[in-house]
Amino acid sequence: MPSMVDRIEQIEAGGRQAVSAAASAAELEEVRVTWLGRKAELTAILRGIADLEPAERGPVGGAANRTRKALEAQIEERGAELAAAELETGLVEDRIDVTLPGSPARAVGHLHPITRTRRLIEDVMVGLGYRVMEGPEVEHDFYNFTALNHPEDHPARMLQDTFYVDPAGPVEAGDGPRDVLLRTHTSPMQVRAMEAAPPPIFMIVPGKTYRRDSDATHSPMFHQVEGLAVGEGITLADLKGTLLAMLREIFGPDREIRMRPHFFPFTEPSVEFDVSCFRCSGTGTLNDSSRCGLCKGIGWIELGGAGMVDPNVFGFVSDSGYDSDQITGFAFGFGIERIAMLRHGVGDLRLFFDNDVRLLEQFS
Ligand code: PHE
Repeated sequence: MPSMVDRIEQIEAGGRQAVSAAASAAELEEVRVTWLGRKAELTAILRGIADLEPAERGPVGGAANRTRKALEAQIEERGAELAAAELETGLVEDRIDVTLPGSPARAVGHLHPITRTRRLIEDVMVGLGYRVMEGPEVEHDFYNFTALNHPEDHPARMLQDTFYVDPAGPVEAGDGPRDVLLRTHTSPMQVRAMEAAPPPIFMIVPGKTYRRDSDATHSPMFHQVEGLAVGEGITLADLKGTLLAMLREIFGPDREIRMRPHFFPFTEPSVEFDVSCFRCSGTGTLNDSSRCGLCKGIGWIELGGAGMVDPNVFGFVSDSGYDSDQITGFAFGFGIERIAMLRHGVGDLRLFFDNDVRLLEQFS
C-alpha cells in the first residue's frame, strides 16, 4: 500500500496538470475548488493529520502543506497568465473603429421654425409660378430708398430707423444719410430684379432685413418675403387673388383676406392686407363667447403691405424695358416671423433667436 506521502505526491502531480490545463478564469476556479476546496482530498488529509500516528504527522503534514502552497502558487501564476491573455484578446476583439459614424446622444435635429416657414411660403409661391430670388443684405441707399420713390426727407431714411454702414468710421449724429446701409426691407430687390431682366417678372425674395427696433414683436434683424409680379394687364384684383391663394395655403382653406388703404412710397395705390382670424374663424369671439385673443376680437390679423408698383419706380428701370404705359405690376411684403408666430402660437418674436432647444424642440 502506497504511503500517505506518495498519495500526496500523486495529488500534487494531478493538481499541477489540472491547473496547467485550465483555459479560462472560470475553469481555473473550478480546478481550485476540486483540488483545494473544502471537499478536496488534500483538505481532508490536512484535516486528519491530528488523527495520524505521531511518527507520520511530521512527514505527512509537511508534504500536504507544501503541496497546498505549491498548488496555490501555481493557481495564482496561471490566473495571472489567463488574465493577461484575456486582456489581450479583449483588446484585439473590442477594438473601436474610430472611422464608424458616432451615435448621437440626441435625435438628429431639424430645421429652425423660421426656415420651415420660409420654405412653406416658397413652396406655395413656386406652385403659383414664382421664382425665388435673393438679394444683398448690405444695400445701397439708391435701391433701398431712392429708386423706391422715397423723397429725400422721408423719415425712414433717418438714422434712428436704419443701420448705416460707414467704412470710414462711426456715423456722427446729424451727418445725414449715407450711401451704404443694411436693407430695411426686401423691396430693393424689386428694382434689382427689374434692372436685370425685362418683364414679365414673377418672383419672391425671402431674406433678412434690419431696423433699429426691438420689442416682443420687433427685432433688429428679421425676415421678410417680398413678392413682385409685373407684366401686361396685371391689376389689383390679381394682387388680391394671389394673396388669398397664398394665405389659404398657409392658414387654411377657409381664410378670407381684406385690404385696407395705406401708403408706401413705391406703390400706388397702397394697401395693408389682413387675413381672417383662424382661431375664431373671423368672428372675433371664441366658442365660450370670450373675446378672441389672437385677433383681439377684431376677426382680422394684420400681415403686411402691398400695392400696385408706382410708375415712378418703373421710371428707374425704363432702360430694362419697363414702360409704365405698357405694363403694370403689384408688389407685396410681409414678415416671416409674424407668420411663424401666428402659425405656432409663439407670443414673443425674440424667442426665435434665443435658440433655446426647449423651444426649438417643439417644432420637430
Ligand atoms: N417693404 C414694405 C415694408 O417693409 C412692405 C411692402 C412691400 C409694401 C411691397 C408694398 C409693396 O413695410
